[in-house]
Amino acid sequence: MSQSSSFVRSTWSNRWAFVLVTIGSAVGLGNIWRFSYLAGSSGGSAFVLVYLLCVALIGLPLLMAEILIGRRGRGNPVQAMLNTAEETGNSPWWALVGWVGMLGALLILSYYSVVSGWIADYLYQAVVGVRVETAAAAEQGFRDLADDPVRMGFWHTVVLTLSVGVVARGVVAGIEAASRIMMPILFLILVLLTLWGCVVGDMPAALHFMFDFKAEALTPGVVLAAMGHAFFSLSLGMGAIMVYGSYLDKKTSIGQTSLWVVGASTLVGLLSGMAIFSLTFGYGLAPAAGPGLILQTLPLAFAHMPGGRLVAIFFFLFVLFAAWTSAISLVEPFVSWLTERYGIRRVQAAWGTWAPVWLLGLAVCLSFNHWAEFTIAGLNLFDALDQFASKIMMPLSGLAIAIYVGWMMGKALVREEVQLRGGAFPLWFLVLRYVAPLGIVLVFCHNLGWTPW
Ligand code: TRP
Repeated sequence: MSQSSSFVRSTWSNRWAFVLVTIGSAVGLGNIWRFSYLAGSSGGSAFVLVYLLCVALIGLPLLMAEILIGRRGRGNPVQAMLNTAEETGNSPWWALVGWVGMLGALLILSYYSVVSGWIADYLYQAVVGVRVETAAAAEQGFRDLADDPVRMGFWHTVVLTLSVGVVARGVVAGIEAASRIMMPILFLILVLLTLWGCVVGDMPAALHFMFDFKAEALTPGVVLAAMGHAFFSLSLGMGAIMVYGSYLDKKTSIGQTSLWVVGASTLVGLLSGMAIFSLTFGYGLAPAAGPGLILQTLPLAFAHMPGGRLVAIFFFLFVLFAAWTSAISLVEPFVSWLTERYGIRRVQAAWGTWAPVWLLGLAVCLSFNHWAEFTIAGLNLFDALDQFASKIMMPLSGLAIAIYVGWMMGKALVREEVQLRGGAFPLWFLVLRYVAPLGIVLVFCHNLGWTPW
């Protein structure tokens, strides 16, 4: 276990462990809650197809680049950037990327923990047997939660404490053990829910909504949201993947691992979307319901399903697990920096991180009710944090990483570290150098109204 020394770092127990924890980080509320709510409120297919394109052309190459920096740099995000910059003769200012990531991860964690708390609340409701029979009751159920900062704050505290607790225990013991059990079961439940969506929901309508391309829905805002979500769903740009990569041994193939992670994350997103939208349309609910979408649709489906209460319990339990393994990866970058930079113990670093995130999370709870009037650029605190992180911080940090690995580190070193065989290296490098950065810049320009086409 890496406690304070930056020389002896822990490594995952084997290659699959790394794949699993990285999937654990990537697959979370982003793929289940965020994907369906954003797709629902951004016109469906336009969002989904741009998202898929961004995952393939920007997400995958950047995921590999971020793992590469972590593994080469062997340190927390700031240190990994410093180490690689020194090795390749680049400016130490590149460490800024690490800083932005670490702090951004904490901002995300503050509202991520609140939304995970909603899931915990719904799990509790399923356990005690709350049933919603009508769409109106389901909508009211979510509104009651959003109106109650104490209830939200309570669950936020529980989830945050659990996540920080795992990080306090350490990387291999805590994070790896948690992911290994939870991820496979979550996947099975999602398949089950999708099948159920075919039985009682309106699957053709869902597929039409998600995949029938409607060019008119393709507004600049939708494109930016979809790109932001590609970053979010793959945990990119915030040091999380970098720090996990820093615990990776030299033998593991970065390319293969990344394909697994991208595949799993995308599949979970698409499955969730199909399950949720088939039920949404089947029950005549509105896909554009906003952040509460899955909590307004699924409980209704569970109420009408044979054995629905049990399925509900399992579903919320495993979504909570998925959220937990992601939340862990949002805590780890900062904690590893604290331990390595100041030589303090992991336990202290973890609980020291808990406090500020907890406070900001409480403010997020209030932003749905008492503080709803308080807005930043017209958004409440929750939306402001989410949009700032996903539409500004992550793409900018991703752009910096693409430029750093593609142009600054030196081709020979990058080739040696990434170990791609055959034509895979030139292809990846080309995409990383040109396609990914250009894609990010174009989406930004398009959003600011400078459309070159
Ligand atoms: N990818 C996770 C999800 O989809 C969320 C997440 C975890 C994340 N770690 C991250 C997002 C780092 C951005 C950066 O739920």
